Amino acid sequence: MANEKVHDVVVWSDKYKTGIKLIDKQHHTLVDLTNQLYLACRAGDDVLAVVFQDAMHKMVDYVRHHFTAELILLDKINYPDYQNHKRMHDDLIRDILNAAKEFNEGKKLTPNNFTRTLEDWVFGHIAVYDKMYAAYAADQKRKGVLSDKVLMEIETAIDDEGK
Ligand SMILES: [Fe+2]
Repeated sequence: MANEKVHDVVVWSDKYKTGIKLIDKQHHTLVDLTNQLYLACRAGDDVLAVVFQDAMHKMVDYVRHHFTAELILLDKINYPDYQNHKRMHDDLIRDILNAAKEFNEGKKLTPNNFTRTLEDWVFGHIAVYDKMYAAYAADQKRKGVLSDKVLMEIETAIDDEGK
């Protein structure tokens, strides 16, 4: 569909910015993967199943990888709301997997709707809840409890672990 509108595609916005390099890098990857999902929606019927499933699996895998990295970070910086944040991730993953399962079974969601739902969940979470720990990290830095150097060491360790 060449006439697909631009607003169907996720555009990076500063409202997603946490100021934590590793997380912002991973969130950028989530934007890319979501856009690939949208692109996959445009595939012709004959290849849609394969292309879309592939993009969907990549997205779901990456969301998991990213959530794991995020929780390691939150643990290391002693984020007080860690348990709540973890619960939200667990709920999001469960919802995403359920939606993927429903999609695979009965196609209740069209690829486009599936992608939009995924986008809403993930980016809604980032824009609100990830910003909260970003504010906490910034506050800890202001108070001198957390330094850029330590934060960078934590990020590098997590990044290396995930490779
Ligand atoms: Fe998160």
